[in-house]
Order: sequence, then C-alpha cells, then structure tokens
Amino acid sequence: MLKKLDQIQNDALQALQSVTDEDALQTWRVAYTGRSSDLMQVFSGLGKLSKEDRPKVGQKANLVKVALESAYEEKLKLLKQTALERSLQEEHLDVTLPGRPASHGRLHPATQTLRRILAIMADMGFQVFTSNEVETDEYNFQFLNFPPDHPAREMQDSFYVEAGNRGDNPLLMRTHTSPGQIRAMRAAVQTNPDNPPPIRIVLPGMCFRFEQITARSEIQFNQIEGLAVGKNITFSDLKGTLSDFARRMFGQEARTRFRAQYFPFTEPSAEMDIECFVCSGKGCPVCKQTGWLEILGCGMVHPVVLQNGGYDPERYTGFAFGMGPERQAMLRYKIEDIRYFWGNDLRFLEQF
Ligand code: PHE
Repeated sequence: MLKKLDQIQNDALQALQSVTDEDALQTWRVAYTGRSSDLMQVFSGLGKLSKEDRPKVGQKANLVKVALESAYEEKLKLLKQTALERSLQEEHLDVTLPGRPASHGRLHPATQTLRRILAIMADMGFQVFTSNEVETDEYNFQFLNFPPDHPAREMQDSFYVEAGNRGDNPLLMRTHTSPGQIRAMRAAVQTNPDNPPPIRIVLPGMCFRFEQITARSEIQFNQIEGLAVGKNITFSDLKGTLSDFARRMFGQEARTRFRAQYFPFTEPSAEMDIECFVCSGKGCPVCKQTGWLEILGCGMVHPVVLQNGGYDPERYTGFAFGMGPERQAMLRYKIEDIRYFWGNDLRFLEQF
C-alpha cells in the first residue's frame, strides 16, 4: 500500500510536468486529487486496513496529498506568471509613445480668401449683403441692362431651373453676384423712397455658369460684388478704393492698372490688373509674360441700373466691382488648376 502511494505521487508529479495551461491543470487536479482519484480511494479504504497498517498508510496518504496540493499551487503560480510575462511581451503597450494627433478641421481655401477680402472691405466701410443663388432672368440680366437676346448674354451661359413656362423671365442659377446690386438698392430705397440712403456693400456668394470645365473655368465659383451708391461718387473714388484694396490684399508695394472693358451694367467699365507679384512685372509664365494679372471687373453703375434699383440717376452715381476669391487664391498660392477647389482632395485642402 505504501508503495502504491509512492506510485500515485510519482505518476501525478510526472503528469504535472506536461501541464502547460490552467485548463489542463484543473483536469490534472480532478484526476489526481478529486473524489474518484486513486489517492481518495486509499483514504476511503483506510477503515478496512489492520490496526497496525492504518496509521502508517494514513500518514503517508496525507503526506502525498499535501505534496500534490503544494505541487498544484506552485504550478498554478508558475502558469499565471508565464501567462503574464507572455502577455506583457506580446501585447506590449508603450505608454511613452506620443498619441495619434486628432486632425483639426479648417476653412476651405476659397472661404479663407473670401473672408479675408470681406475683412478688408469691412475695414473700408463696406457692409456684407447676401442675396439669392436662384435668380429670375430679370434680376440676373434684364434689370442689369441685358435685354433678352442681347449678345452680351453670351458672356455668361446659364443653368436654368425648371419652373413651368415663365416666358421671358425664367429662373436660373445666378451667373454672377451683380443681381444683388438691384436687390440691395431696392431694399435701401424702401427705407426712404424719396431720399434713398447711400449704399456701401460687398456681396459674396456662389455663382454658376454652364461652362466647359477646364483648368481655368469651373461651373461654380464664388464672387464678391462691391457696390457704392451716393451723391458725387466718381470714377476716381472707384480707382482709389480698388487700388487701396489691392495694397491691403497683396501688399503695400502692389501696383495696379485699369484697362477699358465692356459690361452692360456699368459705363464706363474697366478691368483692374495688379502687377505680377511673381516676377514684379518683368514677365513670367504666371502672368503670361505681360507683367500684369487681371483680378476684377468694375465700372460706374449704369444709369439704367440705378433707375431699376430705384435711385434717380440725375441725383445719384455709384461704382461697382466684381471679383473671384478662387482666382485670387490661385494667383497668391500659384495653384495651376481651378478644379482642385471643388475636387474634395485632402492632399490639396490640407495645404491651406
Ligand atoms: N458681374 C461681372 C462678371 O461676373 C463683374 C462685374 C461686376 C463687372 C461689377 C463690373 C461691375 O463678369
């Protein structure tokens, strides 16, 4: 019997050596120390032994039981230790690594430029006036002195909105911000019909043209219109205001020139160029060797337009201008393709 107990102990310790995880260890525990294990059979058979054998066998069985239990505890500790070490190795977490930076949103480059222009114009006393993106033909063209079928309409091919048969006055996506001139004047006239107040506004917003999309033209783009109406406003006010704007926008050194141009809603009309800031006027690919960059259209508000806005052209004069923030951003940052603006490509947008 004593030999059998030695055997039980040896077998158990032997088997314990091949145990490598906690599941197997529990199975081992049941097999060697559980209710129906050989060891427990010895305990329950003690009563059948002779008086001399009983204490010896009992004592030995107890020793074996204690040995197996402490072997179990030790093995359990060892398994837990190796499991911990392995997880520390394999699921290594380096708390000293810097975290992943959260990416900050920011304004679109066109919006940044637009707001910069508005801020400059605000410093010069121009208030922001916003107007409709969907316009009637009257506001977009007729009130601005483009009669139906006038060839000047070819400058601005349009997207029309389906809205039943509206004859000569269909709905369209505004092709420029100039219709806001009429809306701003009419709103001001309402405040004092006999003696309408002077106006000094800028009018930002999206415009739409039915164009072939190329590196230089898009079917949607922002414009900022400017309008000043009052008594004794002259072309020199226009030139002074816009030259000052150019210096504030492009730097104190910025030189400007005005070239004659035609728009139906201004007379006389002009385009303003700034001296090329890439080559300082010497001629380079950006200015196509001319030394100048065109940045806006402008002119004295046409008497017909003043009239349509409710201002008496005998008593009031005014000037207006229109410019494109995307175009100015392209010049400033040397962006060679206007399609980047609405291409939604983060590689482009993240540079601003
Ligand atoms: N509306 C014109 C355009 O889009 C620009 C302009 C505005 C010209 C105001 C003169 C005065 O081309």
